[in-house]
Amino acid sequence: MCGIVGYVGERQVAPVLLGALKKLEYRGYDSSGIGIIAAHNNRPRIVVQKTCGRIKDLQDLVARRPLPPSSIGISHTRWATHGVPNKVNSHPHADCTGKISLVHNGIIENFEELKKDLQHKGHRFISDTDTEVIAHLIEENNHGNFLMAVRKTIGRLRGTFALGVICVDHPEILIAARIGSPLIIGLGKNENFIASDAPAILEHTRKIIYLNDGQLAVLKKNEVKISTFGGKVVRPRVDHVTFKIAAVQKQGYAHFMLKEIHEQPEVLRQMLHRRLKGGALDLRELGLNDGQLKAIDHIVIVACGTAYHAGLVGRYIIESLAGVRVSVDVSSEFRYRQPIIDKKTLVVAISQSGETADTLAAVREAKARGAKVVSICNVLGSSLTRECDGVLYTYAGPEISVASTKAYTAQLCMLYLFALKLCDVHHHKKFGERRRLIQYLCRTPEFYEEILRGKNTIAAAAKANSHFGCFLFLGRNINYPSSLEGALKLKEVSYIPAEGYAAGEMKHGPIALIDEYRAVVCIALQSPIYEKMIFSMQEIRSRRGNIIAIATEGDRMIARYAQQVIYLPATHELLTPLLVALPLQLLAYYIALRLGCDVDQPRNLAKSVTVE
Ligand code: AGP
Repeated sequence: MCGIVGYVGERQVAPVLLGALKKLEYRGYDSSGIGIIAAHNNRPRIVVQKTCGRIKDLQDLVARRPLPPSSIGISHTRWATHGVPNKVNSHPHADCTGKISLVHNGIIENFEELKKDLQHKGHRFISDTDTEVIAHLIEENNHGNFLMAVRKTIGRLRGTFALGVICVDHPEILIAARIGSPLIIGLGKNENFIASDAPAILEHTRKIIYLNDGQLAVLKKNEVKISTFGGKVVRPRVDHVTFKIAAVQKQGYAHFMLKEIHEQPEVLRQMLHRRLKGGALDLRELGLNDGQLKAIDHIVIVACGTAYHAGLVGRYIIESLAGVRVSVDVSSEFRYRQPIIDKKTLVVAISQSGETADTLAAVREAKARGAKVVSICNVLGSSLTRECDGVLYTYAGPEISVASTKAYTAQLCMLYLFALKLCDVHHHKKFGERRRLIQYLCRTPEFYEEILRGKNTIAAAAKANSHFGCFLFLGRNINYPSSLEGALKLKEVSYIPAEGYAAGEMKHGPIALIDEYRAVVCIALQSPIYEKMIFSMQEIRSRRGNIIAIATEGDRMIARYAQQVIYLPATHELLTPLLVALPLQLLAYYIALRLGCDVDQPRNLAKSVTVE
């Protein structure tokens, strides 16, 4: 998954591109580069600077070796998929003549066969990437009409791409095209932009066109023309994005992760205000009327990673509140098994980015089998939202940190609202619970603020346990998924091996792990199965395990079985995962901080996995 930016206008292009690229670093950060068209003895030529490492390294390189004046260019920050992260493999890539330069986000699945064919025709390659093939193919197809050469080239490509292409023979145009990877167009005054994501160019323009799959754009400084790959003219919708630039800056927090953790009360408050007016649900973008919802007898949730954990919680919520059967699958498994789907099945795809390749593929598989598909998604205009019959946007704002926090709790909140809608439509017996659940749901933002005020207790628990080399997270029933999510948060930001387990499974193997060198996080809130958690904690203590307990305020017994206790406000039992998520996010954050990890950009990870 990578980030691309392009510019054509009247300003000096280098600072515009580098500034915009910096805001895409969360999309990938193992190498980066910039390519511009500069006049040289009145003959335009491509000038490129590339480097391994972060965008700061590229900025330093350009500061040491300034680029010549230019008002058109492209830039790229990489998360390697083909070819190791090094300078040669970083983008932009060129053809043999050096007249064409391009940047790419995605995967070209047929690049080997194309490369072999081009090599037979004499093309010389210098990198191991799939991307370089595109530049040489445009060269091969370029017989004087550059736009036609690009069209012909993208017709030969299989896979996914968001492209930005420039050519010295046409120094006034920037061509962009996309299929399967996100690409937006920013409309300025005598200047226009392309970018993988809107935050990159918000400081320049809020007028955004979300390019659709199969569309190509030709940008000049004062004109943008969009067409299908085949050349059919497209009249695009121009959106005016409203989220603030500050939303993509840290606003004084040490890390995006901490900022986004602290944004959760407001995100939940706004979501509840927007969708729950006086107890009446507003899920209008769902795309299904009550009759269609009532006809649903099976819901299949597909997602990856943290979004998958939200789906697992969703199963408990929906089955309990609405009495509708729910299955949950990781997208990468769903798409390759033979899922039993019929017209009474509703597939719910959960994705923060809306660009996760496996979830997109699962949705296509579900639609091919005749299912209706709705998505719970955070990024407006993302690919997933365009492929579903309905979308429930979480409006959590940009989530920059690779570790998903506010997006997760917003997904959970949306699942509660969706379950309430199904409860209404199916007139399920839990209807009586509805009012009490809504009361507690509406108090959740204030519960969050209370927990955040007490975060030093969580920091202290992190300090006392950050030396352990292995963590177990134990939960039961609706908090079994919470244990999986807590383990994922910790391992992805601190690199400490961590596993989430159903506490009842301890006796079936994991208890062999327990000794004085392990930390065990036990989610033991007041509930009908509280005593069962206490038994598990006793078994762990008798084997000298170190326990961090997540407990309900007022529970004085639990301190006997745990070295540290993190207390949470009492809430509706079904809502406990929404509260438990917060201390587990903070625990992971503080431990990673103590270990000196790069909290926002953990090694090997990227914010959105747009490749399989
Ligand atoms: C979560 O902290 C991870 N960054 C990762 O598991 C993420 O949830 C997963 O890749 C799914 O991403 P999506 O929600 O954008 O589809």
